[in-house]
Amino acid sequence: MKYTSICNLKNFVESEVSIAGWLYNKRSSGKVRFVIIRDGTGLCQATAFKPDVDPQVFDLCDKLDQETSVEIRGIVRKDDRAPGGFELSLKHIALIGESKEYPISPKEHGTAFLMENRHLWLRSSRQNAILKVRHQVIKAVRDFFDDRGFTLCDTPILTANACEGTTTLFETDYFGQKAYLSQSGQLYNEATAMAFGKVYCFGPTFRAEKSKTRRHLTEFWMVEPEVAFMDLEGNMDLAEEFVEFVVGRVVEKCQNELKVLERDITKLQSVKRPFPRLSYADAQKYLTEKKAEFAASDDPEKQKLAEDIMKNGPGDDLGAADETAIGMGHDRPVLVHRYPAAVKAFYMKADPANPDYALCVDVIAPEGVGEIIGGGQREESLEVLENKIKSHGLPLEAFKWYLDIRRYGSVPHSGFGMGVERMVAWMTGTHHVRETIPFPRLMDSIWP
Ligand code: 4AD
Ligand code: MG
Repeated sequence: MKYTSICNLKNFVESEVSIAGWLYNKRSSGKVRFVIIRDGTGLCQATAFKPDVDPQVFDLCDKLDQETSVEIRGIVRKDDRAPGGFELSLKHIALIGESKEYPISPKEHGTAFLMENRHLWLRSSRQNAILKVRHQVIKAVRDFFDDRGFTLCDTPILTANACEGTTTLFETDYFGQKAYLSQSGQLYNEATAMAFGKVYCFGPTFRAEKSKTRRHLTEFWMVEPEVAFMDLEGNMDLAEEFVEFVVGRVVEKCQNELKVLERDITKLQSVKRPFPRLSYADAQKYLTEKKAEFAASDDPEKQKLAEDIMKNGPGDDLGAADETAIGMGHDRPVLVHRYPAAVKAFYMKADPANPDYALCVDVIAPEGVGEIIGGGQREESLEVLENKIKSHGLPLEAFKWYLDIRRYGSVPHSGFGMGVERMVAWMTGTHHVRETIPFPRLMDSIWP
């Protein structure tokens, strides 16, 4: 390789290397010029001492603008004060591409401006760290399922089926036929689980979310495992083991990134099984207590939250404030199971012990991220499922193939979906999910 990556400089102390990258920053002091280069793997400070370098090299250091692409050559020195712990004694520098008036200066910018310049904003240290954590989360997800006998079965993005209700569908014309962008691969997972036993799909999913919140994108990545002969209890155990594994991997592999992000790592280290499990009824009790407690507090944030807790009323889905309150009271994710069947999707199996409730589970992360996982046990009876499809106002004809799964050797089965962006937001302590995907899609933004 012609160039050495900055992250590998530790292997080249006192040797001469060439680095290719972009000018991140520069400083000068008397006869010394400092140029800080980034190459995507880290930052490296190169030092030019006037008596030691060619006058042209020294002059060029003064002229370089932010984000100019350059090639530099020099001797690697260990220096604990330099960013990354190493410094280059500069011998040569060559300009590759100019950068005039780079719009993102080191001063503070508003989020709207940064979002418009997302294609450039990605170059910042913070965005680099968040997206490296995303990379590790995705790798951990794949390793977890691959090492446990799951087969990756990709599911289609163009589909004729509404999986998660009809209000968030992106509709498109498919050669004269109505088609939608997939909201979830689950229905197809149920078919492949009957062929392979344990499967997962992992891809982009789409929801025409008309709400602007810090937890919703219109395009997000979801990993969805599905397992034949697994019930809700097994599903909750799997979700718990999975979350512990992914968090553990991030703590192990992303120490530098978490440092850049000033993430309190102890908040991730406490994420160990078992996680608390609350039935929907327990959660209602918990929220009633929290509402009273927060209303009596002198913290204005808690008072505001108290107003919003249980706004949806009993029997409804949990709201954003409910999830925030549940997350705040725990140092690890909480599994909330058995929601009212009426607020959940048509495919959920009713709890035989109490048929008004569904055998479902949501995993709610601490620190305000809200629901990171949703899933449950699927209805396996052909007759019950047919009636559910009808009562949800869905077209039976479109689900003919799906009902075949119940017609031919139906078995109890379960699965869940985890949204990658919410997981990354939690891992990195990022307030809004828009920073956890390279090019976020939101209700009011499709550029760049
Ligand atoms: O709870 P959801 O809607 O579940 C399903 O789609 C099931 N079919 C999954 C399954 O059982 N196979 O979505 C699952 C997860 C949520 O917990 C959340 O993490 C994420 O997907 N999610 C979103 N993330 C970002 N933006 C959105 N608009 C999201 N909607 C859901
Ligand atoms: Mg959900």
